[in-house]
Amino acid sequence: MLAPVDLENLRRFGFTVCVNVSRSASTLGFAETIGSVLNLHALSKDYPNRSVDVLTPKEKCRQELNRYHGNFGFEEYPLHTDLAHWIVPPRYLLLRGRMGLGMVSTFVLDAPTLSGLLPQSVTQRALFFPRQSRVTTALSFRISRTLAFSLRWDPIFIRPANTQASICAEIFRSSTCRASSTSINLALQTTTLVIDNWRCLHGRSAVPFADRKRSIERIYLESIYGISN
Ligand SMILES: [Fe+2]
Repeated sequence: MLAPVDLENLRRFGFTVCVNVSRSASTLGFAETIGSVLNLHALSKDYPNRSVDVLTPKEKCRQELNRYHGNFGFEEYPLHTDLAHWIVPPRYLLLRGRMGLGMVSTFVLDAPTLSGLLPQSVTQRALFFPRQSRVTTALSFRISRTLAFSLRWDPIFIRPANTQASICAEIFRSSTCRASSTSINLALQTTTLVIDNWRCLHGRSAVPFADRKRSIERIYLESIYGISN
């Protein structure tokens, strides 16, 4: 029996942890029961897999600065939106541990905390540029025009285009943000984390040498059944 996703938690906080996922259920199978899975490969050839990415810690690498591991290696990954430089980043991401000793945690800064930290007068006007794109069209800080609160942030792949965006960047880089986030351990295959990528930020703690064989699966979803976009 697959664990249902806690829709109330997801609506309220922008993330939820499912703790009773059957070991025998594939991650893709589970994802397909809770929502509409995104085919990332169809959107970007940078992603070789159709739906499921297996993430493993790797050394920093100058040739892969377009990826998080290329920039940070085994160090902590800062709070970010996945694919923040896209005009419309994927709405949800699902993470499930495949292997690991539990020495690494994923951390999430939830939507109510974020909306409390960010002045509305600033978020309404903040604009960012994609870091490496020649496109000079600015990206709005608020991904959605219909949600009461949404945001994008990434310290690597987007850069502030105006004063309001610089203020947001300062807030995200403050220790308050990291200290306010919730740590989640994905060592057990029965644990699955679903994050609203438009309303929360997430990151990863540093990977100690002993846990470098850690791997997790990631799937993006366009929608979650039972939640209107
Ligand atoms: Fe991420």
